Amino acid sequence: LEEGRFTVCSVGAGYVGSLTSIILAAQQPNLRVIVCDVNQNLINSWNDQRYPFYEPDLDKQFDIAVNKNKNIKFTTKITEAIQESDAIFICVNTPPKKESREGLGRESDMTYFDMACQTIASMGDPKKHRILIEKSTVPVGTHKRIHNILSQNLANPDDCYTIVSMPEFLAEGVAIQNLLFPDRVVIGTPTDKNGMEAFEVIKGLYTNFDTNFIHVRTASSELGKLFANAMLAQRISSINSMSQLCETVGASVQDLSKIVGSDKRVGPLFLNASPAFGGSCFEKDIQSLVYILESLGQTQQAMYWSQVLYMNQFQKTRLLNMIVQEFQNPTDTILTIFGFAFKKNTSDTRMSPMAFFVYGLIEKGFHVRIHDPQANERGFQIEMEMQGFSIAEKLNFEFCGSDYSKAVKDSNAIIIGTDWDEYITTNYRNMRDQMNNDKALFFDLRSIIDQQAINFLGFEKVFKLGN
Ligand code: UDX
Ligand code: UDX
Ligand code: ADP
Repeated sequence: LEEGRFTVCSVGAGYVGSLTSIILAAQQPNLRVIVCDVNQNLINSWNDQRYPFYEPDLDKQFDIAVNKNKNIKFTTKITEAIQESDAIFICVNTPPKKESREGLGRESDMTYFDMACQTIASMGDPKKHRILIEKSTVPVGTHKRIHNILSQNLANPDDCYTIVSMPEFLAEGVAIQNLLFPDRVVIGTPTDKNGMEAFEVIKGLYTNFDTNFIHVRTASSELGKLFANAMLAQRISSINSMSQLCETVGASVQDLSKIVGSDKRVGPLFLNASPAFGGSCFEKDIQSLVYILESLGQTQQAMYWSQVLYMNQFQKTRLLNMIVQEFQNPTDTILTIFGFAFKKNTSDTRMSPMAFFVYGLIEKGFHVRIHDPQANERGFQIEMEMQGFSIAEKLNFEFCGSDYSKAVKDSNAIIIGTDWDEYITTNYRNMRDQMNNDKALFFDLRSIIDQQAINFLGFEKVFKLGN
């Protein structure tokens, strides 16, 4: 890359847009990178060097891009950013449609995506051919949808844009590592000359990355991303489906993960039992896959993937009922939930499985306290509402942030919901002393603690998921 000759812009400054852009700018000093968003607060936050979310190692890469390479800018001037760019990444949100929130088979809401495409279409210029890259997770066939939008605005859309699919596989909490060392970079292009050229150009952006490229048809790339998330989620539902059986027959779910994961054909990662998978992608993407299958009449296949979601919901219901049954007088009982982020090392609470538990326990009349090292009260409140759990009228809960003492004082139980490392190493002896003198229980829904060690501390019962 020659200095300052090639500019990429990301439309959308959320997780995907900002993080991919920051890493590209940090790794390729000669590249110019623009990150734009309609959300002025978000752009202000990036410009003030205030991170809008917690992500390990982000500060270092941000510093390289912003202060050393000085090749990235954040702006709300979207049309100007597109004008200056040679390649445009679309990284806007594609949430499930609100109207059909209940039940399975939810279609993706493409409103934001379409709006971004319209803006891009209005900037089409046959004298400056650009690469248009879909990065947001989208239904298969979205490249045709983009083409239609371009065609409504441009006489010869193919002279202005080559449409490419390049899904992002980053996982929150390890996003920077995922971006610096991607398992693969998937590039889906048309099979014509434009497509081949676009592939070569994009490969050029990754010269400083040690990775391998998978160059496929656009439809394969789009569907590949949905399937990748569906497969990962399916592994979790599979291991979760074994947790109760392990508890019943005296097996350990960790042992099962070890036994199965050491088979090369299966692989060791992503086999941790949990109270359910959460996060903004898995459920939404499976819903989208199920919707696509159903709308094409492939009912049996749709039912197969629906089961992954049923299992996920079942696990939550089973564990909530188990906890509730342990206590006779909910209104006299304080329960402490450890963790509201949807997984460790992130402040993100989107689709956190713990929302279901918090609500279920509040509804039953328990006094519920929520602890999390990074998630904040606003994120907690928003997520409860988003998942349809209205707590505005409720008084029997407290969000304690990272304050352990506040969270455990006189409590009757600790319920580990998020796999934060500090929930393994924290001083539970100290905590037990602060908890209810008579009766205190321990529920580890992430299967991370040393059950025997906790047993010694005077808990009446220590439950470890899948053990
Ligand atoms: C996921 C995909 O991993 C990523 O490739 C894609 O780009 C976006 O969606 P993310 O949702 O950020 O990433 O996190 P991930 O690590 O996949 O975890 C998702 C959920 O599954 C979390 O709630 C996590 O706690 C849970 N999980 C994960 C388990 O319950 N068990 C496991 O073994 C792994
Ligand atoms: C299987 C297990 O692999 C082995 O570990 C266990 O001890 C016994 O059961 P086997 O039945 O001999 O071994 O063969 P395997 O290679 O697993 O194939 C089973 C079936 O799955 C075959 O019909 C095979 O064609 C099919 N298969 C396998 C697929 O359809 N797709 C694949 O990717 C792999
Ligand atoms: P993801 O996790 O996929 O990155 P986010 O919700 O974190 O999703 O981020 C998506 C971002 O896209 C949001 O900040 C939103 O404001 C932005 N956005 C949505 N529509 C547009 C648009 N038309 N132009 C620019 N940015 C947009």
